[in-house]
Amino acid sequence: MLIEVNNLSKVYKTKLSLIKSHNESIKAVNDASFNVDIGEVVGLVGESGCGKSTLSRLIMRLEKPTEGYVNFRGRDIWSLKGEEIKSFRKNCQIIFQDTMTSLNPNMKVLDSLLEPLNNHYNISKNEKIKKIEDIISFANLKNEILTKYPLDISGGERQRINICRALLLEPEFLICDEIISSLDVCTQAAILNMLKRLIKVNSMGVLFISHDISAVKYLCSRIMVMYKGAIVEKIDNEDKAYNIKNSYTKKLIASIPINNPNKRVKV
Ligand SMILES: Nc1ncnc2c1ncn2[C@@H]1O[C@H](COP(=O)(O)OP(=O)(O)OP(=O)(O)O)[C@@H](O)[C@H]1O
Ligand SMILES: [Mg+2]
Repeated sequence: MLIEVNNLSKVYKTKLSLIKSHNESIKAVNDASFNVDIGEVVGLVGESGCGKSTLSRLIMRLEKPTEGYVNFRGRDIWSLKGEEIKSFRKNCQIIFQDTMTSLNPNMKVLDSLLEPLNNHYNISKNEKIKKIEDIISFANLKNEILTKYPLDISGGERQRINICRALLLEPEFLICDEIISSLDVCTQAAILNMLKRLIKVNSMGVLFISHDISAVKYLCSRIMVMYKGAIVEKIDNEDKAYNIKNSYTKKLIASIPINNPNKRVKV
């Protein structure tokens, strides 16, 4: 199994008052368990604040869980040391909603793409540039973009560059956290198509997080529904006769415009 999430919980302590020392605990992730296998695209939907991004940070080893653990290829990610952590960083990539998050505004696109290759590959600069040009053309971008700065290109182009940057490292596991939310509908569709092609070519495991249930249905073989930190439903997207138990999921599924695939629904 590529990724195993076992009874994962994350509790945050937040101050209720700036003056008095009143603290409150928020269970952002509550006893989540699921697996993602090689070549599998698993969707995660749920309303804003239900814990999707917290769950991604826990899986990416960016935050420690309060309880539970995550295994990557059978190893607890917090038991990894030195070179193993570096290898985990290469093999598990995340792309965020904010298209500027991973790009340094002061670096040309080419340098932002060279950076991960410099950190993880011992190959010549020409070989690195060849890899970059190949993936850029696969993403339907022209080489001129490499000489531009992130602020001089569109949000859709920046998100394509972010996807290229993550996939240049040929990761085994990828998390996409709301990567199309800030883009217009046409750009969303183009990026989803590009992602679908790249996933097929690279046979990665993917956790695709979105408010857009139509996008999730388009990409994923399984869909998980999160509500108030807990995974309340797991749906097999290939099973058309959904056997939905949870009332929140029923509302979500009922909102899918079956006869109008171009209409997107946000949750
Ligand atoms: N570092 C933190 N400290 C305190 N509380 C936090 C922290 N990070 C997240 N939370 C809280 O945890 C809950 C889950 O937040 P999270 O960002 O994971 O939700 P989300 O499902 O990704 O939402 P959205 O769809 O809006 O991105 C929220 O109540 C949030 O305020
Ligand atoms: Mg989020």
